[in-house]
Amino acid sequence: MVQPIIAPSILSSDFAKLGAQSRMMVDYGADWLHVDIMDGHFVPNISFGPTVVKCLRAELLKGEAFFDCHMMVTDPLRWVEPMADAGADQYTFHYEACYDHEEVIKAIKAKGMKAGIAIKPATSVEVVYPLVDQLDLVLVMTVEPGFGGQKFQQDMMPKVAALRERYPNLNIEVDGGLGPQTVDDAGAAGANVIVAGTSVYHSDSPPRTIKEMRDKLIT
Ligand code: DX5
Ligand code: ZN
Repeated sequence: MVQPIIAPSILSSDFAKLGAQSRMMVDYGADWLHVDIMDGHFVPNISFGPTVVKCLRAELLKGEAFFDCHMMVTDPLRWVEPMADAGADQYTFHYEACYDHEEVIKAIKAKGMKAGIAIKPATSVEVVYPLVDQLDLVLVMTVEPGFGGQKFQQDMMPKVAALRERYPNLNIEVDGGLGPQTVDDAGAAGANVIVAGTSVYHSDSPPRTIKEMRDKLIT
């Protein structure tokens, strides 16, 4: 069976304190750190790239923190090697960003990373079915990618449920607007990996929020 995984999104950090705040999230009980890479082209926002990830990796070594990298970039193949060299653990690229998905998956695996595919709200879930046996994770976006702090799109849950029905052992991640109020819907549909930016970083007690979400996933 799949494990419940809470992945705080470091996009909600104060970037001047990125290293310290990332370490804090791990100490607070984060299972993974969700690392949002935005190129200002695939999405209308720019975050940071492999150089920053490499600095973070020097702070939090492999084994200390799992870097779950969400690549919101136009050319996913181009960033596989730089991200692997920077120390990424998992590389999730957007289905909508390219045509030859198998080529990208193979490149990711060849560099020793786990491979995921993300789908935007307008993309139907069936498109990933032929690829799932090569994947470690499918990410069902519950907001339009590009910005934190948006409202959870509950109507994405049928996609999660359809995936879970077909693939009982797949890591199914949801991203966007997740928090203690929305995690129930996500968990009921079958998601086991919860990305949370605003709800964790702006919580009075991030450790409590992380635990609350994990507990809700288990029950
Ligand atoms: C949005 C990013 C998310 C974002 C989530 O494009 O992929 O990971 O940080 O932030 P919240 O949890 O605030 O919606
Ligand atoms: Zn993300």
